[in-house]
Amino acid sequence: MSSTASNPATAVTVPSVRATKMRNGARPLVMVTAYDAPGARIASEAGVDLILVGDSLAMVVLGYDDTLQVTIDDMVHHTAAVARAKPHALIVGDLPWLSYHLSPEDTVRNAAALIRAGAEAVKLEGGSKRIPMIEALVDAEIPVMGHLGLTPQSVHAMGGFKVQGRRPDAALALVSDAKALEHAGCFSIVLEGVPTEVAAMVTESIGVPTIGIGAGPACDGQVLVYHDVLGIEDRMAPKFVRRYADVRGVSIEAVAAYAADVRDGTFPGPDESYHLATEVAETLGIYGSPT
Ligand code: KIV
Repeated sequence: MSSTASNPATAVTVPSVRATKMRNGARPLVMVTAYDAPGARIASEAGVDLILVGDSLAMVVLGYDDTLQVTIDDMVHHTAAVARAKPHALIVGDLPWLSYHLSPEDTVRNAAALIRAGAEAVKLEGGSKRIPMIEALVDAEIPVMGHLGLTPQSVHAMGGFKVQGRRPDAALALVSDAKALEHAGCFSIVLEGVPTEVAAMVTESIGVPTIGIGAGPACDGQVLVYHDVLGIEDRMAPKFVRRYADVRGVSIEAVAAYAADVRDGTFPGPDESYHLATEVAETLGIYGSPT
């Protein structure tokens, strides 16, 4: 059985996530992104195990074409909004590009800002070259989630958002990076955009859970972007996304209905308006309600 919980009475903690391996009979971890308080409340009530305040914020909320545009201040702002919802799920704050590349000191300072905003762990992208930063974070008692494979902050270096680990050397490099991240103290690792077989190799080779996105079913958990799950936008449809709702369609219908009601004069109606007491209206010489 999983030691994590979608039961709101049981808190999801870093140690409970760390212990969640499907090969030991655990059920898969469920992570979804959220960027604000309503999203966090919905994710929490739906019983997810982890909420990632992802730097996908840049693309799905702020309208940028990649994730490189968000700053630590943006991430702090949105992490705090998520934390105010007090979700049952573990809150993971994403370290944005260049917030953990310059020095271990800078990395700890930036991660601390996310923790002070309400995150209980942070996530960063990259393999063995991130080890000094991960060790500094762990040393500062900040739990770290790794992120390997298609790492969106490397979009230019990768030449686009491309599936990684297709060749034998690249697949083996992923296994070796995952082992290095575990050894440095990561409590879990996101695997993004890698072939199912490679994700299975990585998952088998380490003792902490893998959480996949576009990495097939062998991972110890799955993560999706909130806006993709709900169908809030239809601009991009990556192969790995399964949409569970058409919130965009429902929302367009709702706003169009509101516009029609305003234009034909049926909104607001008497029940949606405030009224003077009859005697006050009569003192003002008003008899009957304005139409
Ligand atoms: O920022 C994000 O949403 C992520 C997930 C895709 C894992 O990093």
